[in-house]
Amino acid sequence: EKSERESMLIVTNYAEQFFVDQLLHTDEGKSVGLSYLHKRGLDLPTIEKFGLGYCPEKWDGLTQSALSSGYKKEYLVKTGLTIESEKGLFDRFRARVIFPIRDIAGKIIAFGGRIMTNDKKSAKYLNSPESEIYHKSRTLYGIYFAKKSIVQHNRCYLVEGYLDVISFHRKGIENTVASSGTSLTIEQIRLIRRLTPNVTIIYDGDAAGIKASLRGIDLVLEEGLNVRVVLLPDGEDPDSFSQSRSPQELSDYIAQHETDFINFKTRLLLGQAGSDPIEKARLITDIVRSISLIPDNITRSVYIRETATQMQVEESILYNEIARIRTGKN
Ligand code: CTP
Ligand code: MN
Ligand code: MN
Ligand code: MN
Ligand code: MN
Repeated sequence: EKSERESMLIVTNYAEQFFVDQLLHTDEGKSVGLSYLHKRGLDLPTIEKFGLGYCPEKWDGLTQSALSSGYKKEYLVKTGLTIESEKGLFDRFRARVIFPIRDIAGKIIAFGGRIMTNDKKSAKYLNSPESEIYHKSRTLYGIYFAKKSIVQHNRCYLVEGYLDVISFHRKGIENTVASSGTSLTIEQIRLIRRLTPNVTIIYDGDAAGIKASLRGIDLVLEEGLNVRVVLLPDGEDPDSFSQSRSPQELSDYIAQHETDFINFKTRLLLGQAGSDPIEKARLITDIVRSISLIPDNITRSVYIRETATQMQVEESILYNEIARIRTGKN
């Protein structure tokens, strides 16, 4: 007797093959899905590597095909591929391109589906619901394809979205994973920590991305990892930024713009009038709060020295402030 998990994985595996087949071998899939992916700059080898697919517009294309191949309704519903309503069974991902989501071992545990139009009525991405096999907060998109490179390079690039991961991999930066829209979680950071202590956050160059970077910095520091940040030009995300650039240009940009969190905050929070004392005090307080989250004493002292030098304040003042914050927390 198979476990529930096994039965669900068999169904996601079938669905993956169905979606790929629809994308590559049906008229609808080719003219709607494949042409969309090409328009997004993806070539066939990339599409095949990541197992991208297409779910037809039909009400219950996947569901009917799976049922008639002998797969059980129970697991179609439990994986969220099929939705059961009073009107009957229908496919969750109708008329979307499909991004299969793998766990670190490569098993397909969920899917993301993107609409191909710009209509604001439906969500741009739909994702599988939480289930026995899919815990969103413990999942990093791309981890299966990235893990070897993360270990090799001893660094993990953290981006927001599916296409950010895929574009970076295509440009040779394979040590890239995405938190996929969920705000980054501690479990996701711990998954990275098994592979490397070094994280570089490259979120979208918009207000939401910057806000998420600031939050990500603190979370990563708190888990005892080293964090750097790359700020992209306004309105760009790692995918759009990669499009017109060669692998060399991309890695040069990252090398030149990767900064530690102190410099990132300084550039972000310190306006043009960088000498305004109140503004500067606010920045120092902000940096010190982040440093106070670092569990290791020695690492903290290194960042205290850097801050003291850069901000031209006494180290002892920073130490006192950090001691005050850390006592308050315990
Ligand atoms: N996301 C989601 N549901 C949404 C919007 C976003 O799950 N309604 C997740 C997706 O994983 C998405 C990521 O958050 O890839 C980042 O969101 P966003 O930057 O808005 O999308 P992009 O990845 O840039 O998507 P695209 O380039 O296709 O517009
Ligand atoms: Mn490499
Ligand atoms: Mn975004
Ligand atoms: Mn984006
Ligand atoms: Mn994008």
